[in-house]
Amino acid sequence: MKHPRVRQTRPDDIPALIELQARVYPSIPAWSRRKLREQLDVFPQGQIVAEGENGVVGCASSMIVPWDEWAESHSWKEITGAGTFENHNPDGKTLYGAEVFVAPELRGKGIGHLLYEGRRTLCRAMNLKRIIACGRLPGYHQYANEMSVEFYARKVVWGDLRDMVLSFQLKEGFSYCGIVEDYLPEDKESCGHASIIAWLNPDYDPSRPTTIPEEIAL
Ligand SMILES: CC(C)(COP(=O)(O)OP(=O)(O)OC[C@H]1O[C@@H](n2cnc3c(N)ncnc32)[C@H](O)[C@@H]1OP(=O)(O)O)[C@@H](O)C(=O)NCCC(=O)NCCS
Repeated sequence: MKHPRVRQTRPDDIPALIELQARVYPSIPAWSRRKLREQLDVFPQGQIVAEGENGVVGCASSMIVPWDEWAESHSWKEITGAGTFENHNPDGKTLYGAEVFVAPELRGKGIGHLLYEGRRTLCRAMNLKRIIACGRLPGYHQYANEMSVEFYARKVVWGDLRDMVLSFQLKEGFSYCGIVEDYLPEDKESCGHASIIAWLNPDYDPSRPTTIPEEIAL
């Protein structure tokens, strides 16, 4: 496979993204056309896709938030405005990762890495302080009878268990910062929970304002 390229999402990607998301999460309701359109209207620079030879093979969606307003507790539905990104606030300093996925048949080939690299490029280009996300823990349901979700996540951090999402995010240089319970109740694989992860932008310059260029070269 020729390596996919990462680019900004366009409105004409929406049908392919809906189809892909339904395959990625067969038991979680997919985004509607209207919500994807709203995300693009609210913050087009934050929405990126990986495009292969035969079309879109993954995406990463982000918004900007004042993290202090959400740090203590939030669910996916609350922070993303149920997927509308209505809480996107360019006065914030944190790029919040709302979603990332890769086509199931193409995982483990570095496409997730390209999308995360794209997200880091956005963070640097906008002079944001960091990226924070709440990651699914899809391997947890296999261990839920044996251990708490906190202990499961610690075992992933220690390298004694592998989780499709958290192991990937740690490898991408993110720090594990704890568990958010009931983040996405529909996510049965993660038993509804998520891990908070953070990456600090080494180029962040607090003396410069956030800049949101029309186009960001990815
Ligand atoms: C998380 C996800 C986006 C990663 O995408 P990807 O294209 O597979 O990622 P990459 O190929 O760049 O990296 C995969 C790395 O993650 C880890 N990984 C891959 N598959 C794994 C698995 N089944 N279990 C544990 N770790 C795994 C490995 O460390 C691998 O690195 P390596 O094989 O190069 O050593 C993808 O697994 C996915 O779409 N998952 C389902 C959707 C989802 O839950 N998204 C997260 C929302 S919070």
